[in-house]
Amino acid sequence: MSRPSVHRVADYDDLSRVAARVVAEAIRDMPTARILVATGATPMGAYRVLGKLTGAGEIDASGATVFQLDEYLGVGRNHRRSLGRWALETFVLPLSIDEGRFVRLPFDDAALTAYDRRIRDEGGYDLAILGIGENGHLGFNEPPTEADAPSRVVQLSAASRRSNARYWDPGAVVPERAVTVGLGPILRARRIVLLVSGARKRTILRRALFEPPTPDVPASLLQRAHDVLVVADRAAAPDATGREDHR
Ligand code: F6R
Repeated sequence: MSRPSVHRVADYDDLSRVAARVVAEAIRDMPTARILVATGATPMGAYRVLGKLTGAGEIDASGATVFQLDEYLGVGRNHRRSLGRWALETFVLPLSIDEGRFVRLPFDDAALTAYDRRIRDEGGYDLAILGIGENGHLGFNEPPTEADAPSRVVQLSAASRRSNARYWDPGAVVPERAVTVGLGPILRARRIVLLVSGARKRTILRRALFEPPTPDVPASLLQRAHDVLVVADRAAAPDATGREDHR
């Protein structure tokens, strides 16, 4: 078991630049990378930088395949709050990746089991770009989640629904169920980069990095994955040990 490396940066802008550089390097190393992408607020800055690098001809991600990490159930693929649509509009298309290379999650457990098997047979994910929930979730792997959890239909916790309500119109009902890539396939990814920003994530990041891994903090199970880089700003990681960028 190895602790994830922590790359601590000053603020959100630096986090976005450093994370984009890490993803760009992975794409250069693995031009046909199979990339699992989170949505949420945290990676948006990095995705914007990656879009600019693509526009400037500095990276070519056209050979990558992008996989959806999670999705609400009962939300059509063109719904404004569809996480698939969000990933498509902020990552896939800005990186000039053909929409046909964006793989969406199926919506029931039987199909998700077959999906996991297919992905595993094809070699798994090369890169997972993740964010962390304030309750320690990764994707929609809510606490408690075991390290070998498969992709599946999940019930969203009250905490996650409250936290996600900020992305929905006032008064809108956040769906209660979702599908997520399981912690098992996530932890088997060849490389994982976890982006963490802001004081709201400070407590959970400390628990994920420094407390013994437990299903009660799914992100702490990253300590069991082999190549994990956490890029965190100082608000989220005021006293984390690790590499620092002094810029
Ligand atoms: C979304 C996802 C979630 C978010 C997490 C953090 O696809 O996988 O696990 O990464 O909820 O969200 P933000 O970045 O909005 O704080």
